[in-house]
Amino acid sequence: MQLQDILYSQGFGTRRVCAGLVQQGHVALYEAESVEPVVHTDASEDVEEDGLRMRVQGVDWPYQEKAYILLNKPAGTECSQKPSAYPSIYTLLPSPLRQRPSKSNVQGIQAVGRLDQDTTGMLVLTDDGPFIHRLNSPKRHVPKVYDVTAKHEVTDDQIKRLLAGVLLNDENENVRAAACEQTGLHTFKLTLTEGKYHQVKRMVAAVGNRVEGLHRSRIGTLGLPGDLEPGKWRWLTIGELSQLTATS
Ligand code: URA
Repeated sequence: MQLQDILYSQGFGTRRVCAGLVQQGHVALYEAESVEPVVHTDASEDVEEDGLRMRVQGVDWPYQEKAYILLNKPAGTECSQKPSAYPSIYTLLPSPLRQRPSKSNVQGIQAVGRLDQDTTGMLVLTDDGPFIHRLNSPKRHVPKVYDVTAKHEVTDDQIKRLLAGVLLNDENENVRAAACEQTGLHTFKLTLTEGKYHQVKRMVAAVGNRVEGLHRSRIGTLGLPGDLEPGKWRWLTIGELSQLTATS
């Protein structure tokens, strides 16, 4: 692929901007492990994109045909690109990730299963449409684990009712937790295999308690890594990606 097209595909701006970045010497390519990257100034040079590592305006960037990102969402952020009251999670990502061109109906990168503004924890973002669909589809039953802190003491009866199923006001079928385990006087872990609007909060309200804190700690077999601080993101590793794909 031409170098300018590679940059364009990674979100570095229009083709014209990308050609300018190359011509002005802002793009260097790694040719071997642990050797300084070499500046390339021909924007139409053909470069093999698979496995390519670049340095663009001083920042290292691996070529990723599709982006798969893990973000530890902090409280007080909205998952929407156009937030109404709080900053968008997209402000936590570097601009190439926010500007990646649309691909087969996916408008740049999207959160797989949104979290409320006050919910913290694991978010996966990608521009891979079928992957989003697989992870979100209720038919696939991908478990999502939430750590819940409740206002009132949690009772055995509440746990039993969450497992047996509760009726939410605008639904005509019971929704049940796939697993539910008390972890403290006010805390429990709840596993859901679907993602209805405010589902955890509504289920907990339906059994007579109230969510005071909500954190997503796991999607499928992949847990939120302990070293990923709130507000930080990183690329998913190939191993993590295959864990997610295996569960979906
Ligand atoms: N359920 C909720 O109520 N809120 C979330 O953010 C996620 C699941």
